[in-house]
Order: sequence, then structure tokens, then C-alpha cells
Amino acid sequence: MDSYDLVIANGVCVTAADVAPCDVAVKGEKIVLLAPSGSLAGAATKRLIDAEGGYVMPGGIDCHVHLEEPSLFGQGSSADSFESGTRSAVAGGNTTVVAFAPQQKHLDSVLAALADAHALARGNCYCDYGFHTLVANPSPTALSEFPRLAGGEGVTSLKVYMTYAALQLRDDEILSVLLAARRSRLLTMIHAENGDALAWLTDRLEAAHLFAPRYHAHAHAPALESEATHRAIALSALLAGTPILLVHVSEPAAARRIREAQAAGQPVFAETCPQYLFLTRDDLDRPGFEGAKCVCAPPPRTRADQAALWRGLRDGTFAVLSSDHCAFRYDDAAAGKKTSVSPAHPVGRFRHIPNGLPGVETRLPLAFAARKLPPTRFVEVSSTNAAKLYGLYPRKGSMIPGVSDADLVVWYPAGALGEFALTNDMLHHDADYTPYEGRTLDNWPRYTILRGQVVWDRDGGGIVGEKGFGKFLKRERSSLHGIWETVEEEGPFDLEAL
Ligand code: URP
Ligand code: ZN
Repeated sequence: MDSYDLVIANGVCVTAADVAPCDVAVKGEKIVLLAPSGSLAGAATKRLIDAEGGYVMPGGIDCHVHLEEPSLFGQGSSADSFESGTRSAVAGGNTTVVAFAPQQKHLDSVLAALADAHALARGNCYCDYGFHTLVANPSPTALSEFPRLAGGEGVTSLKVYMTYAALQLRDDEILSVLLAARRSRLLTMIHAENGDALAWLTDRLEAAHLFAPRYHAHAHAPALESEATHRAIALSALLAGTPILLVHVSEPAAARRIREAQAAGQPVFAETCPQYLFLTRDDLDRPGFEGAKCVCAPPPRTRADQAALWRGLRDGTFAVLSSDHCAFRYDDAAAGKKTSVSPAHPVGRFRHIPNGLPGVETRLPLAFAARKLPPTRFVEVSSTNAAKLYGLYPRKGSMIPGVSDADLVVWYPAGALGEFALTNDMLHHDADYTPYEGRTLDNWPRYTILRGQVVWDRDGGGIVGEKGFGKFLKRERSSLHGIWETVEEEGPFDLEAL
């Protein structure tokens, strides 16, 4: 009889395609066998996990996390390092994160930024990780480095911003990035908000003495997101359907425009995040300065908008549900949300509140408890599509024997935990709050397993994995819906000549 390193017996396995009671056998770092339920309960194995009544899924892949970034916006610095951010990730059922290697505007090279990110992450991660390049200065040097990103470096995606003075690219710069990305088969992620209009609105609100956190939602008006989304899609179309992914989409008009482009066959992909499903703009109006805990960009919108985003997750408009984890400490006047508070502005100035929320650990439990997605779709948007979109499939995001890494999340049987209120002291990040404090949940990852090793055992020591076990992942080019295979070679003009 074969002997295994780990057997997970009696669970209900869920992939993006199937829900089936079956046992999972692991040897070394790989899943090696899926077998009828209960059939491996007596197998020779170093470790047996009885998952009776619980779901067993591919580990979560959070493809949008900001860790240990330089202070890009002039104020605030990340609460989470690669160590604390990935520790928090595994406690929330994730086995892979894709973080950013941010190029600063005054620097030419993106490879140098990548080297800096590697130096911070190496040896410090609890889960596997990759990088997206963040392009703030599409200098000739940076663009000339794209072939190396996709080739030797295994970095097959990049992000650009249409807002934030420190990061914003003009349309002509975005076109240069898209063209170079197309040539190197890099997927371009776009933060779509109209930065110029946003700055104008911010000035007007401040001139009217409207400084409190809630005015952040006024400045980041939904129309600025849908306009920029439309423009990003138009720029991608101008370059003969160069693939793009709209990140952290928060409002329905943008989602409709994305859907329309998808229906027309454009390679336009989209992501939404828990803050747009579980928070609203009313959360920015919490007493005193508390609303700052929910300041992110784009901001949370309305309840009706939440419902529209859930529909978009179900109908395929959104390929992925990511956290956009970008944590700043709240009660921290040197590096956190309170850098924006002064005697003259006791409830802060919204323009100076560092944008971003912690969420890598709560993404899966919140979405699981909401029961708004069929289990297969839950796996698809939280793991499998991320693996495909970012060139990790089928090694990650699936459970194919002999092929997939043994990256798994095991949930408790339904009802085993009862209902409980989430509190920040349950979490493993270095932020001093969660925007979801007090939220009712009814499940939590019981085990997180990374390449065959249990790294999170909620009832048996919590974090049991080791810092440094997480490996850097060189990624292939995106494979979701064959985006590079179907991309039109012919445009309205000869792209090769540009
Ligand atoms: O507010 C946000 N989303 N902060 C993180 C940075 C970004 O734009 O993704
Ligand atoms: Zn963004």
C-alpha cells in the first residue's frame, strides 16, 4: 500500500468545477490522489486530518495586497511587512499572495524596484508570493525592462494608476505602457479614477471647510470611477484589444461598462473587493475620526451598489475577489490614519488620510459567511481565476493530482463554530483595527495547508507554519480565457510600426 505524507479524509472537496465528497492524499508538496470519500481514512500516512462535514478547497490566492511599500503618497506607511501580512494571509485561508514592487516616480528602473521588493520579502513570508510591478514612471529604461520582467523574472503583470499625484500616469503614458506590455505579454492592472477631477473636487470641498473623513466619498465620486473605467477600456481598444484588468471596482456604472466591453469580446477583466460588498459610504461617517478606518480608494458606496457587485461576481463580470489589503494603523500619528489629524483639524483632513484597509485575513471568511456565491464560484473568484489570470495555474488554484501543489484550506463543518463576532484581536496583521469589527461570522479556516505542510491550525496552535517557508513564485503569462491566444493581431493601424 502506498504511504502518504498527509491524508485529508471525509471532507467535501470543492474546486471551481465540482463539489464532491472525496479524500485527498498528499506526497511531498503535491496532491497525488483524490479518492472516494472515506477510502483513505485507513491509509498509511504520516498525518491524517479528518475533515468530516467540512469543505476542502484550493488555498485562497489573494492577488492584490500591498505590503511594506515605501510611503508612496507622502503620508503613512504600511502597517504590514511581508512577515505580518503573509502571517495574516495564512490565518485567513490563503496560500499565495501577489504583492507589489512599486517603482517611485523619480526612479527610472522597474527592475530596481523589483530587487528592493525581493530583498524585503525573501526569507520573511509564511505563504508563497509573487510580485506585480507598479509603474509610476514609464521611462525608456522602465519600458525596455518589460521583456525581462516577463522572461527571467517571472513577473507577468503590472499596475498603473490614473490617480494619486505620486503615481498618476497621463493617457499617453498609459498607452506607452499598454503597448510595451502587449509586446511582452504582461497583463496591465489599472486603478481607474479620474485623478484630475478628483483633485479639483478635493480643493473645492476643502475651500468649503469640508474636511471630515466622509468627504472622501464625495471627492471620489462614482462618476470619476466610471469615466476612468470607460477611458481605460477605450485605450485598450485603441491598441487592438490589449488586455487590461480593472482593479477594485466599486460601483455599478463601471461594472456595466466592463460587462459591455466583455460582451463585445474585448479582453477586459475586473476585480472587486470585500470593502465594496460589506461596507458603505455611511461607514466613513462613523463618530469623530473613526470613519478614517474605512477610507480607501475608491471608497465604499451604497447598499444598492453592493447588490450590483454581488451580481457581477456571480455573472462573471468580476473574475476575482481580492482584498486590496493596504493596512495603515489607525491610532498612529506618525505613520497611520492619524497623520491627517492636527489641532486645526481634529477630525483630520480627508485628503491626507492614508488610503487603504486591512483585509487579507478576513476576505475568505466574510465572503464565505455571506452565502451569496455557490461554492464553486466562491473557489473560482477567490483562488482559481487568480491563478489563471496571473499565470500560476494549474500549479496553484486547483486540485489536480500530480500537478497541483497541496495548497488547501479546510473549513469547519457547517454549524460547528456557531455564530461569533469578529474582533481585531483574533487577527494576525499588524494593524490596530479591522473595519469589520463586530461583524457576525459563522466559519473560519480550520486548517491552511501550503505545499503539504499545515501552516495554520486554528485549534492546534494557530500559526504553526514558519516564516520563510513561503517561496517566491515565478509566474507564467496569464491564461484566463486564453487572453493572449485570442488577442487581435490587427489593429486600426500597424502596432509594430509604433
Ligand atoms: O485605498 C486603496 N485602494 N489603497 C491601496 C492602493 C491602491 O490603490 O490599490
Ligand atoms: Zn488601486
